[in-house]
Amino acid sequence: MGHDKLRKFAENETFSCLKQPSSEDVLLKTGEPGLHLQDHPLKGRWGADVFGNDKPIVLELGCGKGDYTVALAERFSDMNFIGVDIKGARLWRGAKYVTENKIPNAAFLRTRVEFLEAFFAPGEVAEIWLTFSDPQLKSPSSRLSSPEFLRRYRRFLAPGGTVHLKTDSRFLHEYTKAVIKASGNPVLACSADIYNDNTELPPVVREIQTFYEKMFLAEGFPITYVAFTPDKEPAAPDFDEKFWKQAEGGRRSFSHAPRKKQ
Ligand SMILES: C[S@@+](CC[C@H](N)C(=O)[O-])C[C@H]1O[C@@H](n2cnc3c(N)ncnc32)[C@H](O)[C@@H]1O
Repeated sequence: MGHDKLRKFAENETFSCLKQPSSEDVLLKTGEPGLHLQDHPLKGRWGADVFGNDKPIVLELGCGKGDYTVALAERFSDMNFIGVDIKGARLWRGAKYVTENKIPNAAFLRTRVEFLEAFFAPGEVAEIWLTFSDPQLKSPSSRLSSPEFLRRYRRFLAPGGTVHLKTDSRFLHEYTKAVIKASGNPVLACSADIYNDNTELPPVVREIQTFYEKMFLAEGFPITYVAFTPDKEPAAPDFDEKFWKQAEGGRRSFSHAPRKKQ
């Protein structure tokens, strides 16, 4: 491991806003197939134990450096924000900023999105942001807006709670719209090119740009947005994978290497 990563991991240990449970804290080894989770002590306790208040909690999943988490926390002091990611070196950036700037309503959780039910109680979360999630072209069940993940979110998202998806991936945008349609959930707002149309969107959608968003914009890719309330049981989408994969073209994989516009 590089020296810089080790330095960040060491500094991460000093940030009180960053929670880094080990997998063993939440994963039960039953010998049975599938994920078996046990509750973490923070489940149902974020307001009382982390923020010291009962303001609504908003999650950013796959937050990377935590750009949305931090920017939303700075704008909305009446809510609490938690950025979730598995990569400690990325979380370091957001956790350091929050620590140095003494932002009381932002925190970070280093864990897999698959484990979130172990950390949040029913109704504990008011909103979820998915920001530039990996589109997972080959693995539908790994997409963070798939019926599988929406079922997980429903176990801790309050009724009427919103899921926001902001992505440069037209494939993931269209897939998510198909999931929303199949489930019969209403679309609250939607745009296939947020900076080139006048669709009414929450102002923060156009005001805040993440690290990955800036990269994709520099490469000339349109940015999409869709928001919905997953109140109804998610259903398998009627989605033309082949067509939208082709439309996605040679995009790859959120590496820092430039990808070719088709
Ligand atoms: C393309 S990056 C986007 C980061 C950030 N949202 C942005 O826009 O700059 C996707 C992030 O999702 C995280 N991620 C992907 N799958 C995850 C999972 N199952 N659990 C937790 N984090 C995940 C990765 O570690 C990565 O930081």
